[in-house]
Amino acid sequence: MTILKFPENFWWGAATSGPQTEGRFYKPHANIFDYDFEKNPQNYWHGIGPDTASNFYNDYKNDIALMKSAGLNSVRTSIQWTRLIDDLETGTLNPDAVRFYNDVIDEFIQQGIRPIMNLHHFDVPVELLHKYGGWESKRVVELYVQFAEKCFELFSDRVTDWFTHNEPMVVVEGGYLYQFHYPDLVDGKKAVQVAYNLQLASAKAIAAFRKHNKNPNGKIGVILNLTPNYPASDSKEDKAAAHFADLWQNSLFMEASVKGEFPLELVEILTKDGVIWDSTPEELNLIRQNTIDYLGVNFYHPNRAIAPKYSSDSLAVDWLPNKYFEEYEKRGVRMNVDKGWEIYPRAIYDIAKNIQENYGNIPWFVSENGMGVSREERYFDSETNRINDDYRIQFIKEHLYYVHKGIAEGSNCFGYHLWTPIDCFSWRNSYRNRYGLISVDIHTQVKSLKKSAYFFKELAVTSSVEL
Ligand code: NOJ
Repeated sequence: MTILKFPENFWWGAATSGPQTEGRFYKPHANIFDYDFEKNPQNYWHGIGPDTASNFYNDYKNDIALMKSAGLNSVRTSIQWTRLIDDLETGTLNPDAVRFYNDVIDEFIQQGIRPIMNLHHFDVPVELLHKYGGWESKRVVELYVQFAEKCFELFSDRVTDWFTHNEPMVVVEGGYLYQFHYPDLVDGKKAVQVAYNLQLASAKAIAAFRKHNKNPNGKIGVILNLTPNYPASDSKEDKAAAHFADLWQNSLFMEASVKGEFPLELVEILTKDGVIWDSTPEELNLIRQNTIDYLGVNFYHPNRAIAPKYSSDSLAVDWLPNKYFEEYEKRGVRMNVDKGWEIYPRAIYDIAKNIQENYGNIPWFVSENGMGVSREERYFDSETNRINDDYRIQFIKEHLYYVHKGIAEGSNCFGYHLWTPIDCFSWRNSYRNRYGLISVDIHTQVKSLKKSAYFFKELAVTSSVEL
């Protein structure tokens, strides 16, 4: 038996988001998913949309108490732009929303849970998409910064930990390349501009934070899905595909957020192809000066890159829209049976090393890691009266082994957050895959601790894990 001890004050927690938990109650505006579901409910698992989600808007006290029972010392959620702001142009506040977020923050603090707030979790207001083109537009960048400023003014006296975006690369890929988020476009040129504008928005929000933050301990960062791309073979082509995938998918936001510069190699390719983003020297300077204090890393599975057969050498026209690598190689790797995702915990160690060696060992935490399982009621055990999710416990332990190894070798990792505290709505997949420590019956909204919640509590209380 081995016991791994983690540092003092380690963040043991879980992550979620406003649009996936609160429900649409009293929201003045629709985000892209609210709208998309209204138009195309058939695209959502069992026709279930975000209207109720897990009812956090009404049930937050109970939910936070349950999170407390699972031992969480920190929880990330997000403030919804479409809830907080009444007039999206002028930025007037919605008083009910101000009251709601104040109550939620106070409740977390009262329960001894550190509230961590993210500002953008795929939920751009749909009106701004239809009016301006969403993240394609610099006007939307300005309006987002206006919303961010309001959040800092209202809540930074109590919230010390802030993030500008969750998984900006998913916004780019889902909405502008691979059609899994509204507006479902396939447009390499737009995708490149959206990536740039998201980075600009992050830097501008950081600048606003440094002006409006009320708390001397306040910090701000970004949450990136850093998915290591391993070549599926030793061939030159697969290695090149993996290299390019890393450059686009990981280094773009990482370099710009940590070092204030976009990766030169990528900029050169985009310039050669005539699709480089529209930027000004002032903006690039602002990006250079407003780098993050710390980083959140979401990690679920690695990619195994196989070189596709491109019909041209144009990145924007051919590579990006057609996928710059084939679906990950499934032969010979360990899979999560339900989700079709590979399980490869060692990747988290590779990420830790990469941050340590190439990004100045910036402080970071695992901001999401988790296992989605469908039909989880299969694992309900009538004797213990709970879902016995031993597979999730095993998954967490294996990942923690590699987080610990990274820390032992000097990595500056300060926490581990599971996705997610309570089973929640997950975009077009809705409730198909359950990730929570706590289950929810979507018909009755009854919530119950799974076996993993008891495991997590032990983990958080002892700050150690037994393997
Ligand atoms: C990443 C995203 O941040 C979250 O919104 C999503 O539900 C989970 N991964 C699970 O797929």
